[in-house]
Amino acid sequence: MLGPVLHVASRSDTIRRVVSTTPVTRPVVDRFVAGERLDQAVAAVRSLTGRNLEVTLDHLGEDVTDPAEALRARDAYLALAEALGKEGLGERAEMSVKLSAFGQALPGGHDLALANVLPVVEAAHAAGTTVTLDMEDHTTVDSTLAIHAELRRRFPATGAVLQSCLLRTEDDCRALAGEGSRVRLVKGAYREPAEVAYQDKHLVDRAYVRCLRLLMTGDGYPMIGSHDPRMIAIAQELARRVGRSPRSYEFQMLYGIREAEQVRLAEAGHRVRVYVPYGTDWYGYFMRRLAERPANVAFFLRSFVSR
Ligand code: FDA
Repeated sequence: MLGPVLHVASRSDTIRRVVSTTPVTRPVVDRFVAGERLDQAVAAVRSLTGRNLEVTLDHLGEDVTDPAEALRARDAYLALAEALGKEGLGERAEMSVKLSAFGQALPGGHDLALANVLPVVEAAHAAGTTVTLDMEDHTTVDSTLAIHAELRRRFPATGAVLQSCLLRTEDDCRALAGEGSRVRLVKGAYREPAEVAYQDKHLVDRAYVRCLRLLMTGDGYPMIGSHDPRMIAIAQELARRVGRSPRSYEFQMLYGIREAEQVRLAEAGHRVRVYVPYGTDWYGYFMRRLAERPANVAFFLRSFVSR
């Protein structure tokens, strides 16, 4: 019951104001967000890479409402790419971007988002790294995949994210399972209507396994974005069956979630990448983390009680 309420709250400006200004929120947010500043993000990269983990960095922000904000998002990523290049971190750290932060939802948003993200992908390339396009709600999938295809013409390593909750995703996996493609498979963090998405968690999980099979038997580079021990075990079993080497796929988890498992997998010889969000606009990201796991809400509520 709580999940849908939190999904609605994640897009409410009033609740955003209340949650964002409540002092007890901060320590809870810090569990999921590496910091507000670029230097804090770089410090998190150093700490994670020191533990044999790789990183994808997300400068927090989404659903911008004017073109100037979209330019600020672009500039934040350009600064990030420059820092990764300067610090020699391009090999271990890539960047994840949400196209709604680049203006995708504004009038003419498809072209605007493409124009804003292109320099970021160019800067990533110059810094020796890549970009993965996060996937947002189902209304954005066609535009995001079209921008992904356009970017891949010049930068074939640009990654995409597919969400197993969507009914269309098996077809998208087939289309993107070819050589050179990098696809992060996730279950999906947005509340979606029944016309386009499975409503039952078990069906989402079963679809995840079908999608995983398509990607693991394909010729691309699958990125398994899940904390679910069953999905991780199935991915390992599929890799073994199809004879994939440990460097031909990777596991991905979110910053602050199942950290011991991240390290355990890396120590066992797997490639593991941690998704590290940073910046001041943490509200939407934080609320989605609460919505997907009641234990996270309990953690949040306990911080009020323990004051
Ligand atoms: P799920 O929530 O289904 O839980 C299954 C099991 O996993 C649990 O029963 C438990 O055993 C374990 N588990 C899960 N969370 C845990 C926790 N906090 N602590 C301990 N155990 C836990 N979504 C999206 O729509 N677009 C995107 O671009 C992305 N990008 C993205 C990147 C990366 C790297 C990750 C890991 C995830 C995303 N997501 C995403 C979010 C994704 O869609 C999904 O909402 C969450 O990963 C939750 O689903 P899981 O598969 O992790 O487990």
